[in-house]
Amino acid sequence: MADAPLYEAVGISKSYGHVTALFDVNFSVNPGEIVGLVGDNGAGKSTLIKILSGVHPPDRGKIRLDGVERTWKSPHDAIEAGIETLYQDSGLAPDLTIGSNVFLGREKLKPGILGRLGFLDQKAMERQAAEELKRVGIAVSGSRRTVSDLSGGQRQAVAIGRAIAWARKVIMLDEPTNHLGARQSIEVLSVMRSAKEQGLGVIFISHTLPHVLEVTDRVVVLRLGRVVRDAATSEFDAESLLGTITGLIEAS
Ligand SMILES: Nc1ncnc2c1ncn2[C@@H]1O[C@H](COP(=O)(O)OP(=O)(O)OP(=O)(O)O)[C@@H](O)[C@H]1O
Ligand SMILES: [Mg+2]
Repeated sequence: MADAPLYEAVGISKSYGHVTALFDVNFSVNPGEIVGLVGDNGAGKSTLIKILSGVHPPDRGKIRLDGVERTWKSPHDAIEAGIETLYQDSGLAPDLTIGSNVFLGREKLKPGILGRLGFLDQKAMERQAAEELKRVGIAVSGSRRTVSDLSGGQRQAVAIGRAIAWARKVIMLDEPTNHLGARQSIEVLSVMRSAKEQGLGVIFISHTLPHVLEVTDRVVVLRLGRVVRDAATSEFDAESLLGTITGLIEAS
């Protein structure tokens, strides 16, 4: 379907026990678009990302990629379809090198950006990892260092670089600037812009509203598990976005 969104959630509901985390949520991202997903703590943002990345199945609703309905049995299925996720509680393996972390779990996947090289030995892998991180605008020196030697911000940079290096269609970033300093946060925003320029659909979750207003094309506001606003970023200013999130401004 030519005019279908790149990636779409339709009528998604999800409960944990008797907590309704999401109710009848519609959400989409288009190629070359950065969509901000915002809402207070507990609004359901991470739950939606986990459904879109195959971690949790929805209780109700559909997921469509390029207009085709898909069912993810595991995160592996979503990754194979070109969807990469940086989770809020993102896992790098601290005892492995940066290079090994970039390749973690990829050994059996279909050729991606790096796959064209075929089998890679450790050295080549580390060199290639450094090149890939640099290509997406992330400079962490020495890809042979283990991740446990890095600062929180540097780890985050590796995690983001890994996700963007592998994404073929969609990249979802759940609070990627958490724990980052001002300069590193600005770098993350510029990495998102380059992902957008490559034609990826980018989903950006953040509580830092100036960043959301600066980098996104469209904003979706969740409140208590429901979408209360889905509008072009140009329709918001800092005050109206905050008001929509908190409910002080009633959504139209
Ligand atoms: N694994 C789980 N088991 C039970 N309840 C959960 C689980 N994960 C999330 N919830 C509940 O679902 C609701 C939505 O949580 P979610 O993590 O999606 O919010 P969020 O918008 O990402 O919040 P934050 O901004 O704090 O990260 C909350 O009420 C939360 O307590
Ligand atoms: Mg969350």
